[in-house]
Amino acid sequence: MRFATSVATLIASAALSSAASVTFWTLDSTQRTIYFTSNPGSANIDSVTTSAGKNTTVTFPDTWQGNWYAVREGAANTPGMLGEVNFGSWKGLTYFDVSAIVDPNDKDNVKQLFPASGYEPMSGCENFPCNNAYYLPDDIQTKATMESDLICTLGSGSVGYSFTESQ
Ligand SMILES: *[C@@H]1O[C@H](CO)[C@@H](O)[C@H](O)[C@H]1NC(C)=O
Repeated sequence: MRFATSVATLIASAALSSAASVTFWTLDSTQRTIYFTSNPGSANIDSVTTSAGKNTTVTFPDTWQGNWYAVREGAANTPGMLGEVNFGSWKGLTYFDVSAIVDPNDKDNVKQLFPASGYEPMSGCENFPCNNAYYLPDDIQTKATMESDLICTLGSGSVGYSFTESQ
């Protein structure tokens, strides 16, 4: 995760963070388990099961930092495409990205990550690979938002929203 300088424009109006959350939105018919990895100093988060037709919202301490990956039902538990987040970070902003650092071939689990209310900015893509995810340690792909509630999509499908970021 590396911060882009463009986020400075958000700082002036950044609000203090309160409770944070990620809602997992399954776009296909697959059941998955989400496994969380907390950064040192952040609380452990229990894994959750997600499935089609049901959004699963996980709440986090307001300065939680870490990542998660999704495992399809019946598949081996190995880290893949990551959702990464720093809630309540610098100036209270939430920093986030979808990262292919661990396994760029995990193309059908964690897909897109974006603020629950505004939808922009978005990290990730509907179809991997794309230039809107984090592939190399020096990629500048970390997004920032004043929101502390995010949506993470899972699986193939579309949210039916036209993001400004390239796919
Ligand atoms: C899941 O959340 C998204 C975004 O808020 C919403 O559009 C969708 O209808 C929700 N799906 C369900 C099954 O509630």
